[in-house]
Amino acid sequence: MPEERRAAERRTKLRRTTDRKVTTGSRLDVILDVTRRLMSITDLDALLRDMAEATTQLLDSDRATIFIVDRERNEIWSRVALGTGSDEIRQAVGVGIAGTVAETGEAINIPDAYRDPRFNPEHDKRSGYRTRSLLTFPMKGQNSRVIGVFQVVNKHGRERFTEEDEETLASLGASAAVAVENAQLVAEQRRLWETLIETLAVTIDARDQQTAGHSQRVTRYAEVIGRGMGLAGIELEKLRAAALLHDYGKIAVRDEFLQKPGKLDDAEFAYMKAHAEKTGEFLAHLEFPHDMREVPIIAAQHHERMDGKGYPRGLPAERILRGARIVAAADVFDALTAPRYYKPAYTVEKTLELMDGMAGDHLDPEVVAAVHRLLKDLEWTLESLKHTWPKPSQEVAPAAEGALSERDQAAVKASDG
Ligand code: C2E
Ligand code: SIN
Ligand code: SIN
Ligand code: FE
Repeated sequence: MPEERRAAERRTKLRRTTDRKVTTGSRLDVILDVTRRLMSITDLDALLRDMAEATTQLLDSDRATIFIVDRERNEIWSRVALGTGSDEIRQAVGVGIAGTVAETGEAINIPDAYRDPRFNPEHDKRSGYRTRSLLTFPMKGQNSRVIGVFQVVNKHGRERFTEEDEETLASLGASAAVAVENAQLVAEQRRLWETLIETLAVTIDARDQQTAGHSQRVTRYAEVIGRGMGLAGIELEKLRAAALLHDYGKIAVRDEFLQKPGKLDDAEFAYMKAHAEKTGEFLAHLEFPHDMREVPIIAAQHHERMDGKGYPRGLPAERILRGARIVAAADVFDALTAPRYYKPAYTVEKTLELMDGMAGDHLDPEVVAAVHRLLKDLEWTLESLKHTWPKPSQEVAPAAEGALSERDQAAVKASDG
């Protein structure tokens, strides 16, 4: 398992630094070394694990646990428990030694846990371990808010942890606090960001019953296609966000156009086309995070065409981003497989036939090829999303089996005649 191997490598590296006899001078070196590495580790769990390793070795102790404060539930939970092989420990703030430290923000350094009435021996009872000396230290963030607790157990060769041990923990704790607070902040912002984008998408889909669910479905299809074409990480995130928001500009399109049962005439279609431009305009107001800057561009390009006859820009193929080509194909895939005011749901076979006809001049042939390759996945996704399709409405005459939109009837006539 790569994650375990990476952890093992980290441990070996750490041991190399800490195996030399830990004297006062080298202790500082180790702290600095750990701190420096902390700032470069992006995975918070890996970081805290490193931290706990360093702590047990620097303090020459048996085991170390790092608790994180869960404010919502007013509890602390063991995010990392080294040397205990135990499950997560959760306890209320104010309960037990660690819980007390979380509440008061004061360190507790005791030689014999069993003489302290706050100590909860349940854990020892279950594991057969015998806790003696205990150093429990608050990890404080900004405004001295306690965000976690370090607990180190059983000092080797001595009765209790020293004052120097407390100082060591204080410096390590300060670095850990910065890292934990940063990680929490990033996670919060990311959630805000994701829910904001989802909310925007839900707003467009709520505009009218018939486009309901369209943004969500296009996003799922684009994800399947994107992943199948080798996109990953931030590229996939950009694609997801752009797909969710691609039709945002429809919020500015009047109902009578959006809901017209038949084919749009030229003037109506010209008006409808403004939605792609609007998407770009509206999204330009959002300050996207640096690595997501392409999202509004991808979204606004979803009706550009490979032959340069798309809208709003009529861009040549080489200027159309790959994400936009994928969203374009996902958009058409949903427009054809799902029912619309102006057309019934087409079968997957009919959809593929029409998309094949669009490959080259309208859609990117590579993306259409990916759609073929990924058909099983797409069909499975389609089935799982059918409940988001617009419900048949009374105003629209139920479509006959095999019926086509006026646009496609016209295309059939043109090719026949
Ligand atoms: P939409 O319904 O989400 O359709 C997205 C794209 O899927 C269309 O972009 C087009 O490339 C493809 N598509 C949709 N329906 C059909 C179809 O019946 N046959 C074929 N061969 N392709 C289809 P397009 O054409 O730029 O249209 C943009 C938007 O304008 C559509 O979004 C829809 O909201 C509206 N629209 C387009 N044509 C009509 C129409 O005939 N009647 C009505 N009421 N609205 C239309
Ligand atoms: C534990 O290891 O169960 C926590 C001990 C305590 O802080 O009371
Ligand atoms: C579009 O059809 O709107 C974009 C053309 C493409 O890149 O496939
Ligand atoms: Fe669109």
